Amino acid sequence: MSFSIQAFDRTRHQRAGFACGQPALDAYLHKQATQDVTRHVAALFVITQNDDSHVLGYYTLSAFTITVHDMAHPLAQPIIRKIPRYPLLPATLIGRLAVDSRMQGQRLGEKLLVDALQRVIHISTQIATLAVVVDAIDERAVAFYEKYGFMPISDHPKRLFLPVASLVRLNSPTFPR
Ligand SMILES: CC(C)(COP(=O)(O)OP(=O)(O)OC[C@H]1O[C@@H](n2cnc3c(N)ncnc32)[C@H](O)[C@@H]1OP(=O)(O)O)[C@@H](O)C(=O)NCCC(=O)NCCS
Repeated sequence: MSFSIQAFDRTRHQRAGFACGQPALDAYLHKQATQDVTRHVAALFVITQNDDSHVLGYYTLSAFTITVHDMAHPLAQPIIRKIPRYPLLPATLIGRLAVDSRMQGQRLGEKLLVDALQRVIHISTQIATLAVVVDAIDERAVAFYEKYGFMPISDHPKRLFLPVASLVRLNSPTFPR
């Protein structure tokens, strides 16, 4: 099966029936996401099979800020100690990411995450972003993001970050496209 990830287009992509096992993430796609896009609160990207319009998964991106304190994790220190101590630093938020239950376990979550990270790297040449931040919905989602190197933000157990400087890993086999 081949898949493509594109910006959501309400005239082309069908959301009906999407269910990922987390009602809040389903409701967001069905009821809120397009309003957020219209109001410039979030950009929405969806994955479909190439010859089909049904949404099999999605993620959102928004501009965000982060502090040096947020990134106090020991593994981030080699990168963070070189950062100027501005009160707020630029980041990008993956606010939501989900895969339809019928398609889970087939690496679509990984495809979506890699696409989001590659998009952030691309965008960061135009609008600087220091880190990618994710909001995990539960402990299992935390484990999913930690697999890809995300680290917990201080005092926020379900919010994680990944310095953009460490995204060179995208070129490694652990980040297949
Ligand atoms: C979490 C989620 C996005 C993962 O998507 P997926 O397509 O099922 O995952 P993939 O097949 O791409 O898995 C890639 C890797 O992550 C691991 N993984 C998947 N879900 C995981 C989880 N919940 N916890 C830990 N690891 C997980 C897989 O085992 C696989 O690891 P491997 O390389 O060792 O084989 C998906 O299960 C989902 O949408 N869940 C409900 C919503 C949710 O929790 N969203 C998370 C953000 S809030």
